[in-house]
Amino acid sequence: MSDHQLRVSKIPRGTVIDHIRAGQALNVLAILGIDGESGETVSVGMNVPSDRMGHKDIVKVEGRELSQDEVDVLSLIAPEATINIIREYEVAEKQYLERPDRVVGVLSCPNHNCITNADEPVETEFEVLDDGVRCEYCETIVREDLASHIATE
Ligand code: CTP
Repeated sequence: MSDHQLRVSKIPRGTVIDHIRAGQALNVLAILGIDGESGETVSVGMNVPSDRMGHKDIVKVEGRELSQDEVDVLSLIAPEATINIIREYEVAEKQYLERPDRVVGVLSCPNHNCITNADEPVETEFEVLDDGVRCEYCETIVREDLASHIATE
């Protein structure tokens, strides 16, 4: 794509999450805890034409590199996404996502009686199944809408 076709300009430093399945950008923002209140500069493209995917979503977060935990949950809802770490305007690292075996500390368990929902210093931990995730503590299985189970502080 030539520069005059760029919809969202290049960023100096931060993370570009590219090739997100169209319609998933808002879930990606939820996973990253981006609600517009933190002052970060974030650009979002939705239903952007893509040679490879027809249409895609793209999220650019300036000044921040993602943690491995965030990348793990992203890979659950956007396994086809590419994570580009940008330094000095260049792509310094490109990471293709893979489904993780487990996700720690990012999803919350929907079972109110689970130890992770008691006032205990226990981090949530889920095993990744083919069609969902299972809580390591109470074995509750979450199959749908993982983004709505992202732990909020
Ligand atoms: N990008 C950006 N700011 C930069 C550098 C790159 O926003 N300073 C964006 C590009 O617009 C692109 C993504 O990061 O959406 C990946 O950049 P690049 O690897 O240069 O593009 P492609 O080769 O098209 O990536 P891929 O092979 O993953 O499709």
